[in-house]
Amino acid sequence: MNKKIVLLPGDGIGVEVIESAKQVLEAISDEFNHTFSFETHAIGGAAIDEYGTPLPDETDQACQKADAVLLGAVGGPKWDQNPSHLRPEKGLLGIRKSLGLFANLRPIQGFENLLHASPLKHEVVKDSDLLIVRELTGGLYFGTPSERRNNGQSVVDTLAYDREEIERIVEKAFQAASIRRKQLTSVDKANVLESSKLWREIVEEKKADYPDVQVEHMLVDAAAMKLITNPAYFDVIVTENMFGDILSDEASVLTGSLGMLPSASLREDGFGLYEPVHGSAPDIAGQGLANPLAMILSTALMLRHSLHLEHEANVVEAAVQEVLDNKYHTGDLNIRGGHKVGTEKMTQLVVDCIKSNNTTKSIMSC
Ligand code: NAD
Ligand code: IPM
Ligand code: MN
Repeated sequence: MNKKIVLLPGDGIGVEVIESAKQVLEAISDEFNHTFSFETHAIGGAAIDEYGTPLPDETDQACQKADAVLLGAVGGPKWDQNPSHLRPEKGLLGIRKSLGLFANLRPIQGFENLLHASPLKHEVVKDSDLLIVRELTGGLYFGTPSERRNNGQSVVDTLAYDREEIERIVEKAFQAASIRRKQLTSVDKANVLESSKLWREIVEEKKADYPDVQVEHMLVDAAAMKLITNPAYFDVIVTENMFGDILSDEASVLTGSLGMLPSASLREDGFGLYEPVHGSAPDIAGQGLANPLAMILSTALMLRHSLHLEHEANVVEAAVQEVLDNKYHTGDLNIRGGHKVGTEKMTQLVVDCIKSNNTTKSIMSC
């Protein structure tokens, strides 16, 4: 198999963890006789510095032609005071929109050896295994352009959705639930927002097409509470863009660190961009301390969803599991004992496990 992968390192630890993804894919190509060709392009702050825009045309075009895209992270204090159109985050939003990546899958599953790294009690986190299906190209992030009025003293941000945008993400969530534990929680704020009322109507309509999936509606504030008091309650959560952003960082607490959460951003035809849920972590950037596992697990999602290499995806996930079983961890995980390692060593350990290729059990189920 010959596949073209575009790498978008971005900023901060994005640059460090994308290198880990590349090494993992090289190990997979060696072991399984695939050819992956890599092209690296600029996005975010790095692109602002080099091209004067967070999403250069050539980056956009390279992504359009790729078989799949891997992204590290964007952003950092250097660009925080820039005007909105010159912020690194605009590049990320731009590429999601341009590629039509409306469905963001964020699987959250505790690893046995990391359960005690969570500040939550062991008995609370122990059976948690959920998938957040976040709408990614609509809502507050993409409403009519935000504006300042009244000499900058009044502001408008709009939360807009069309029926079709809600239908396709709700459908994606029903499909995901039907191959998991068949429980779908639609999270909204229907006691206040008109957009949530339409969202509820559409979920109710779609229910008929998936009779074996149990559906419930939950208000986002209550869902935020339940997510950390009874996470095992949830199977699939479907929600609009900003609620999904906030709930997924909250859910990372179950795994012990934001550095553990992967994601897949998908289009209808399976094309996807894969990125960790975390950001550029300016506080630890450039020090070799970043946890590369969220990025590596995102690479496994890429192998599964875009390249249809299920076995290879399982091998990557099993390698991560094995390294954690052997009690290696990066500093973001609050663990006493074991072996604390940096980004490079952690990556090397995963690569070594892939090369020994001795276990193929799938651990992520999304
Ligand atoms: P962040 O996710 O970058 O960091 C939050 C905390 O988690 C920090 O203490 C950081 O050190 C830690 N952390 C995150 N990932 C880690 C990893 N892999 N290993 C070890 N520790 C890790 O969030 P932030 O600090 O709020 O944002 C920093 C910048 O990143 C901002 O400019 C923000 O806009 C951007 N951001 C980008 C993305 C993205 O590119 N997808 C996502 C979130 C935030
Ligand atoms: C994420 C990030 C982005 C988002 C930011 C950087 C625009 O927080 O991918 O979760 O809010 O979508
Ligand atoms: Mn986020």
